[in-house]
Amino acid sequence: MSIRLGDEAPNFTAETTEGQIDFHDWKSGTWAVLFSHPADFTPVCTTELGRTAALKGEFAKRNVKAIAVSVDPVEHHHDWSKDIAEVGGTPVNFPIIADQDRKVSELYGMIHPGEGDTSTVRAVFVIDPNNKVRTTLTYPKSVGRNFTEIVRIIDALQLTDRAPVSTPVDWQPGNRVIVAPTMSTEDAKQRFQQVEEIKPYLRWAAEPSA
Ligand code: BEZ
Repeated sequence: MSIRLGDEAPNFTAETTEGQIDFHDWKSGTWAVLFSHPADFTPVCTTELGRTAALKGEFAKRNVKAIAVSVDPVEHHHDWSKDIAEVGGTPVNFPIIADQDRKVSELYGMIHPGEGDTSTVRAVFVIDPNNKVRTTLTYPKSVGRNFTEIVRIIDALQLTDRAPVSTPVDWQPGNRVIVAPTMSTEDAKQRFQQVEEIKPYLRWAAEPSA
């Protein structure tokens, strides 16, 4: 069964480059970005994991931990990590799951047999501190992911969790937001700055501060 938004992220135990983990214990109280890649020692994946390492500070500011998964063994992950650090310029600073028995990959539907073989596609799960799945993304093996977009999604989720607003097309942090339909324009004017009614169903407001 596929994992849908709002589902509880399935728990698992796994061997990783940072030792054995219980996923829910490992991410306790934090957001997590769980992402799969097809194979170690491949070029696109090398750039993706390097970028993830470089984003450690940005993730930490947002209370997010990253964790990668592929079906390769942990010794390969350790060897490949040296290349990732050399190419990307940052030591690998997050765990990589060695999912040789495909337990995690199958639990999260990361293997798409129509995509050529039994390696994992480029799946991303953004999971909140309550272990709820908040975003899923699936990219083909030949297309590297945009990790800046993953950070932007987390910013949007954290903003829309703390205020009754939504983010419009192409939103970036600091841009204006959309007042939730459940709030009257009058109430919005009390709560937010620069409220502007374009349509009864489209009211802009300045981004509320944290
Ligand atoms: C890559 O990471 O470069 C890659 C891996 C599997 C299939 C295609 C590309």
